[in-house]
Amino acid sequence: MAIKKNKMKVKNICCIGAGYVGGPTMAVIALKCPHLNVTVVDNNSERIKAWNGPLDSLPVYEPGLPEVVSKARSRNLFFSSDIKGSIEKSEMIFMAVNTPTKTEGDGAGMGADLRYIEACAKDIAKYSNSNKIVIEKSTVPIRTAEKIKEILDQNEKALNFEILSNPEFLAEGTAVNDMFNPDRVLIGGSETKSGQKAVNALVEIYANWVSKEKILTTNVWSSELSKLASNAMLAQRISSINSLSALCEKTGANIDELSKAIGMDHRIGLYFLKASVGFGGSCFQKDILNLVYLCKYYGLDEVAEYWHQVVKINNYQKNRFAQKIIDHFGGDLKGKTIGILGWAFKANTNDTRESAAIDVAEKLYNSGATLEIYDPMVKPETIINDIKDYWSIKIYENDKKIKINQTPNFAEKIDGFAVLTEWEEFKNLQLDLSKVFDGRNIFERSLYSIGKNTNDNDCK
Ligand code: UDX
Ligand code: UDX
Repeated sequence: MAIKKNKMKVKNICCIGAGYVGGPTMAVIALKCPHLNVTVVDNNSERIKAWNGPLDSLPVYEPGLPEVVSKARSRNLFFSSDIKGSIEKSEMIFMAVNTPTKTEGDGAGMGADLRYIEACAKDIAKYSNSNKIVIEKSTVPIRTAEKIKEILDQNEKALNFEILSNPEFLAEGTAVNDMFNPDRVLIGGSETKSGQKAVNALVEIYANWVSKEKILTTNVWSSELSKLASNAMLAQRISSINSLSALCEKTGANIDELSKAIGMDHRIGLYFLKASVGFGGSCFQKDILNLVYLCKYYGLDEVAEYWHQVVKINNYQKNRFAQKIIDHFGGDLKGKTIGILGWAFKANTNDTRESAAIDVAEKLYNSGATLEIYDPMVKPETIINDIKDYWSIKIYENDKKIKINQTPNFAEKIDGFAVLTEWEEFKNLQLDLSKVFDGRNIFERSLYSIGKNTNDNDCK
């Protein structure tokens, strides 16, 4: 779609949602656009307090983020609980609130719960006194913009709202770098004159540091669906390689060698072909289930089933990994202590949403194991809350069979370690932590090659 030359003056930007996406994205926009005032608001005042607090305890751990926040916060980046005032004064409003999987009603367990997006739209309609550009940053099902527009158009002040889709493609752990050097920035807008004006206004913001060839403009629906499709394609590669890891273990082929051999074909490429204990994170499972739901809604049952299989293989892989540990010890883990190394869903983040560690640990615990858990970045209370919230069995306070270590010094006798997050500090664990790990069973996801215990039963 051609970008027409229509200028719209933007001076104040607001983002609703100061989470993993809203915080880092806005911090980088503020850093790269000193001429703009960027305010991030959230209905969680504790979170806002933390964003305004010491740099070593920001609510989101991301390499490079404290430096960006430090520079921008002293100049044009503000974190605030004043949702009304920030909406009023901004010409452009990003929505970066969470869109979890629905737990009840139509589409429960699959479709996206849009209640927070709808709440944002209602706030925008209520507090706006001038025309606004409203941007979907959260991942949403295709045609959500229509729903947002309906809510906004109910405002009593005859204001005009342009809705754009500008999905985030940043990955946690590399979010700052992904924002600095994106593969592409995608902006979807309507093809009307005012739609194109709004698209241009957002293009001009990104153009402060991203070359225009990398800024792709499309219609709103293509943009919304591209986000779901990108995540589905990435996750599909992981499930494909993980499914092959099961075959490798039966046949004597090595999954790391297989990944390399496959990935060196430039048509396939090396990325996202690392076998693992299963993908986690707030996006992949949620977005694929959302895609499955959409396909079903449109009567595309075969397409829905194809994508559903990506999630099913992921569950199979988590289960298989835990089962291999159990089998290694003869069928149950009564009297065994397993060290869980890593709780975050990937390295370089403190985010544990949908982490494979949660499911693997539950299965080991249910098989009788005592667990000693350690993650370099995740707070003990987060681990406890995950166990309480996501395990299907009820855990009592002070359960002696679950111990959370704040350092990698495991006090108890450990019969085996399950490496569940690819933290750099675990990479050479047999070398660096030889006192702790020497001679034990190490069950690892093969996201990297750590000093290996060559036991045939190791899970790779
Ligand atoms: C969210 C979505 O989950 C994801 O689909 C999307 O791609 C980007 O936005 P994330 O930033 O990781 O991802 O979510 P989270 O860290 O939970 O942050 C959302 C924030 O919105 C929270 O701080 C929450 O307090 C805030 N929020 C939520 C509001 O301010 N108002 C609301 O009505 C709801
Ligand atoms: C993902 C997308 O990459 C990003 O573009 C989107 O905006 C949000 O969702 P994120 O979930 O933060 O980002 O991390 P990502 O690096 O994609 O990893 C997701 C999961 O897949 C992690 O659990 C990771 O360990 C796992 N993974 C990744 C593998 O198991 N194997 C791989 O080869 C790569």
